[in-house]
Amino acid sequence: MSDPLKISIAGLGTVGAGVVDLLNQNGSQISRRCGREIVITAVSARDFKRDRGVDISNFDWFDDPVSMARDADSNVYLELIGGEDGIAKECCEVAFASGKSVVTANKALIAHHGTALAIQAEQRGLGLAYEAAVAGGIPVVKSLREGLAGNKITDLYGILNGTCNYILTAMRESGREFEDVLSEAQTLGYAETDPSFDVDGVDAAHKLAILSSLAFGCQVNFGDTYVEGIRHISALDIRFANELGYRIKLLGVARATNDGIVQRVHPCMVKLDSPVAHVEGIYNAVVVEGNFVGSTVYEGRGAGAGATASAVVADLIDIARGIKTPTFGIPASELVSLSAAPMDCHVGSYYIRLMVLDRPGVFANIAGVLSDEEVSMEAILQRTRSPGESVPVVMTTHDVEEESIKRALYRFAQYDTVVEKPRMIRVEPVTLQKI
Ligand SMILES: NC(=O)c1ccc[n+]([C@@H]2O[C@H](COP(=O)([O-])OP(=O)(O)OC[C@H]3O[C@@H](n4cnc5c(N)ncnc54)[C@H](OP(=O)(O)O)[C@@H]3O)[C@@H](O)[C@H]2O)c1
Repeated sequence: MSDPLKISIAGLGTVGAGVVDLLNQNGSQISRRCGREIVITAVSARDFKRDRGVDISNFDWFDDPVSMARDADSNVYLELIGGEDGIAKECCEVAFASGKSVVTANKALIAHHGTALAIQAEQRGLGLAYEAAVAGGIPVVKSLREGLAGNKITDLYGILNGTCNYILTAMRESGREFEDVLSEAQTLGYAETDPSFDVDGVDAAHKLAILSSLAFGCQVNFGDTYVEGIRHISALDIRFANELGYRIKLLGVARATNDGIVQRVHPCMVKLDSPVAHVEGIYNAVVVEGNFVGSTVYEGRGAGAGATASAVVADLIDIARGIKTPTFGIPASELVSLSAAPMDCHVGSYYIRLMVLDRPGVFANIAGVLSDEEVSMEAILQRTRSPGESVPVVMTTHDVEEESIKRALYRFAQYDTVVEKPRMIRVEPVTLQKI
């Protein structure tokens, strides 16, 4: 057997302790697969005394993860602390400067600084690996970078945030509202105390920006991602979606178009026969379309100690085997800067819900606005009539530019018979591509 691969681990929380546990349990099998052992030499976290459910007494302890990046006797540094800047970024930079490759699960860091960090690593002949940063245990980074490398990627989309998927699934199954289900998710540990990164779509947008770079050979461009979360989705919309034959999912969608890269995260209505409609609860799924392979679908657990440790260790095994692939599929210095396609140019069909007072003339006003803005209706649903009270009017449209829909929504909101902010959800025509 070759010399062992020595690793140091910064961060011993859910992911870090999961990695220690996985290497303890599966170490001998992994050594046989790599032809060498993977040995933990040093660890760092804030609190030395905390019980982490794994034995760390045989490893050198560092109070300071930056000193560990510089001084630990290791070939690979695992950054499992988190955060888009600050200590996580400093640790990676010091590790590279000290000749260590880096494995991280930190999507915020890669989404904001992925290109620059990849350049630092590649200039020194070192690795930067981040499989765990996108969709947890699902090997979608490796699939894009290696398994699908012969294809031109035309399109990718997916459910990239387990917390949102759990909430939307629970809202549909129980008929409860967002806030109620969110607090249950927090109690069960599926949502953070501050859930904004998840429910406002930022976490999914981090992952989408990374996938986009891998798919289209462009610099990681989180800043230009259109992001909309799920706070405004109501139980009523979920019920109507069901009636119309749809599920509501928070999707990340990336596509190369003549107007630039489409990179958007928002709630979508997807047909029940789409590959993501039945991916429920905390599960993630990613669909990637290649011009020769057609559609490929990846599904699994997007978070948690086991799934994330599985992805981190897969990266370590590649390094132990001496496998070197450019961080984003092509050398980082050659990643191109592509502009984002403006959201107002988005063309698609839309679900619109208005809460209106059932008075004479209401429908004439709605029809007038739609006609002025050249929005053509595909279907309309109106439920119970109860004079004096507001009733929902639900429409789906044929394909139309987003700008027209926004103008129509603005004009609907001006009528005093429209009593709540008009709601809009984009309908995403996601089906498996046949080639
Ligand atoms: N949890 C998941 O399911 C999951 C999935 C995919 C990706 N990720 C990513 O993986 C990374 C880690 O997530 P996690 O859930 O494991 O986080 P976590 O449970 O909060 O653990 C963070 C660890 O970092 C340590 N730490 C924080 N600040 C530090 C500092 N200044 N110096 C030294 N150590 C420090 C903490 O030490 P103490 O324990 O002593 O406080 C803790 O051990 C994040 O980037 C996250 O986005 C997580």
